[in-house]
Amino acid sequence: MDYQHLLTEVRGSAALKTGWITLNRPKALNALNDALMDELGDALRVYDADASIGCVVITGSEKAFAAGADIGGMASQTYMDAYKGDFITRNWEAVRSVRKPVIAAVAGYALGGGCELAMMCDLIIAADTARFGQPEIKLGIIPGAGGTQRLPRAVGKAKAMDLVLTARMMDAAEAERAGLVSRVVPADRLLAEAQEAADAIGAMGLPAILVAKECVNRAYESPLSDGVWFERRMFQSLFGTEDQKEGMDAFANKRKPVFRHR
Ligand code: HXC
Repeated sequence: MDYQHLLTEVRGSAALKTGWITLNRPKALNALNDALMDELGDALRVYDADASIGCVVITGSEKAFAAGADIGGMASQTYMDAYKGDFITRNWEAVRSVRKPVIAAVAGYALGGGCELAMMCDLIIAADTARFGQPEIKLGIIPGAGGTQRLPRAVGKAKAMDLVLTARMMDAAEAERAGLVSRVVPADRLLAEAQEAADAIGAMGLPAILVAKECVNRAYESPLSDGVWFERRMFQSLFGTEDQKEGMDAFANKRKPVFRHR
């Protein structure tokens, strides 16, 4: 795929490969403008539709995953521009509509919209150089792509209020303690660690992976009793897949399963 602000590459050693997306506006610390977000939405849709891909990784540079939405592009906007044109947020929920797992591999700054983009992903693997924050308040605005909603769900109200109101940044260790990130690794291990996680996912049966992701996300959208009911129905549905027969037969016969994703 040929993009102006992204690099894309298919990699991985598992049966299902990984679609890599590298945010690439280095001079602006990967500030997220409309053009980049449109390209990101497009790349995600292409990978989601590709039957040879089991997982997507979004990453940035060593210095920045993304330092936020592009401030230059926002500075002169009026309320009517924002409301009628749906500027900035237009393509931001694209990550949420991807059915395959999406991993954010974060080094350096993940600020404002950059932190929000990482939180839209299914899991965040952080380099020890990562710094997370929602500093929009310093610009006279607030997070606008889910930050005030996803951050408290991830780290609790106390820490979310602290970050959103004071604009302070959290380092990788604090982010891991708070539950925002799944793993922290030395910076030079980040991409390998993300690929290993993606390979672990790509070795599983895709139907179960899609169902597992849907069920975990349901935990954020519904009361416990509805979520448990949804999980039970989805669990039962997997007994209609070839992969369930294969997985259990492989276990019984002490061999590695060969999933056909059906
Ligand atoms: C546009 C940005 C940018 C941004 C950095 N740059 N962040 N450009 N939008 N969000 C540009 C700088 O202008 C500069 O360009 C170059 O990147 C390098 O940045 P420096 O500031 O020189 O680097 P450094 O001193 O290392 O400081 C790094 C930093 C700082 C702490 C990350 O850049 C910073 O505070 N950035 C803004 C962070 C922020 O407020 N994010 C929230 C944005 S609002 P030049 O041309 O001067 O070299 C937001 C709302 C989301 O995200 C709403 C939902 C859609």
